[in-house]
Amino acid sequence: MNVFKAAYCRTFQFVFKIAIPLLPYRQPKILQSVKDCPTVLQSKNIGRVMVVTDKTVMKLGLCDELTEALDNAEIAYSVYDETLPNPTIDAVEQARAQYLSDKCQALIAVGGGSVMDLAKAVGARIAKPQKTLKQMAGILKVRKKLPPLFAVPTTAGTGSETTIAAVITDGQTHRKFAINDFPLIPHYAVLDYKLTLGLPKDVTAFTGMDALTHAVEAFIGRSTTKFTRKNALDAIKLIRDNLKTCYDDPTNATARENMLFAAHYAGIAFTESYVGYVHAVAHSLSGRYGLPHGLTCAVLLPIALDFYGKAANKKLAKISKSVGIADSADGKAVAARKFIDWVYAMNDYLGIPRGFAEIMPEDIDKMSRYADKEGNPLYPVPKLYGRKQLKQIYYHASLKGEI
Ligand SMILES: NC(=O)c1ccc[n+]([C@@H]2O[C@H](COP(=O)([O-])OP(=O)(O)OC[C@H]3O[C@@H](n4cnc5c(N)ncnc54)[C@H](O)[C@@H]3O)[C@@H](O)[C@H]2O)c1
Ligand SMILES: [Fe+2]
Repeated sequence: MNVFKAAYCRTFQFVFKIAIPLLPYRQPKILQSVKDCPTVLQSKNIGRVMVVTDKTVMKLGLCDELTEALDNAEIAYSVYDETLPNPTIDAVEQARAQYLSDKCQALIAVGGGSVMDLAKAVGARIAKPQKTLKQMAGILKVRKKLPPLFAVPTTAGTGSETTIAAVITDGQTHRKFAINDFPLIPHYAVLDYKLTLGLPKDVTAFTGMDALTHAVEAFIGRSTTKFTRKNALDAIKLIRDNLKTCYDDPTNATARENMLFAAHYAGIAFTESYVGYVHAVAHSLSGRYGLPHGLTCAVLLPIALDFYGKAANKKLAKISKSVGIADSADGKAVAARKFIDWVYAMNDYLGIPRGFAEIMPEDIDKMSRYADKEGNPLYPVPKLYGRKQLKQIYYHASLKGEI
């Protein structure tokens, strides 16, 4: 990256960092169970809600407790269950039309990040009917209160129930983009690990590694606070101690609960301290090839950490020692290396590949442009990369080395 662009990026990031205490960050009010939703709705005189979910979650019966509680409280609901992974603009518009025609007054999202993000995007379109989703891409472009929004995560990964982001895909261009603004933080979140007990092994692995990526990218970036560093380290410790257990023993209640909280803490960390180039590149890959978000993050995390080299050593060493991967006597470089090797080993254990055969050389130019646009100047990464350097990450992840 040239010096002028680098100076612009660092200045932009510095301004956002010093503004952190002034920005309206908040966290959702945590509800113990979906059974608590009707009481909140009644207190707001809401008699009709939209339940946003997907077919798998619906079929598994994970909305039953909620719909039963709504029935008992005589609150009407309209179910939108057409959400697919990497939700598209068209799906958001379809759900929005249903919300309006059914005269809903609140949104309850029951599902993974795809469902929660779709519901957030519907809320943004309700709040800002004149603006398209693409016009709201980027940061601070919603600026208007959403209808009451409840998030009930059924995966342990994205932390979307506490973040300012909604990640949506343009189905025409295959470009994934994030809308980031404070009104998108859900008002209420239900953290009930029982909803995650049926997660298949691959989704458990991908979403767990997504949470790890959030925590690591937030921690090694330049816009951390004591609060976000603590949340990131707590998340990494929990993931270290529980992800393999969830993978091997899916119905282990303690491990599932710990992973749900790990994902939530990682969400708290990155919503204030941002992510980094792993996410910028991951979004372009899952947008282009329809790959699961967590899988792309898992594969790219150790590659990107290796690329940062010395620039990330100090903070990676801190993580490595804090969570007991490196010994306290290890030097910075050794401790950082141990952490990166641990991430590779974790991926191997979880059956995650080292790269993607899907990556086509002719797509790299465009994808690196998208990643550059997403990451720069927003993400306060340890080391700045322009398009040329970002391309190296794609080459490396393509399993073919230099193309
Ligand atoms: N808004 C944010 O802050 C944020 C952060 C990270 C990722 N994301 C976005 O979130 C999306 C990924 O979300 P995700 O990783 O949670 O996956 P997902 O929501 O796409 O779900 C993956 C699969 O798991 C299934 N599933 C969900 N819960 C289940 C359960 N309890 N049991 C069995 N199957 C279940 C779903 O039906 C789906 O087929 C991506 O679009 C990503 O870009 C958003
Ligand atoms: Fe993520």
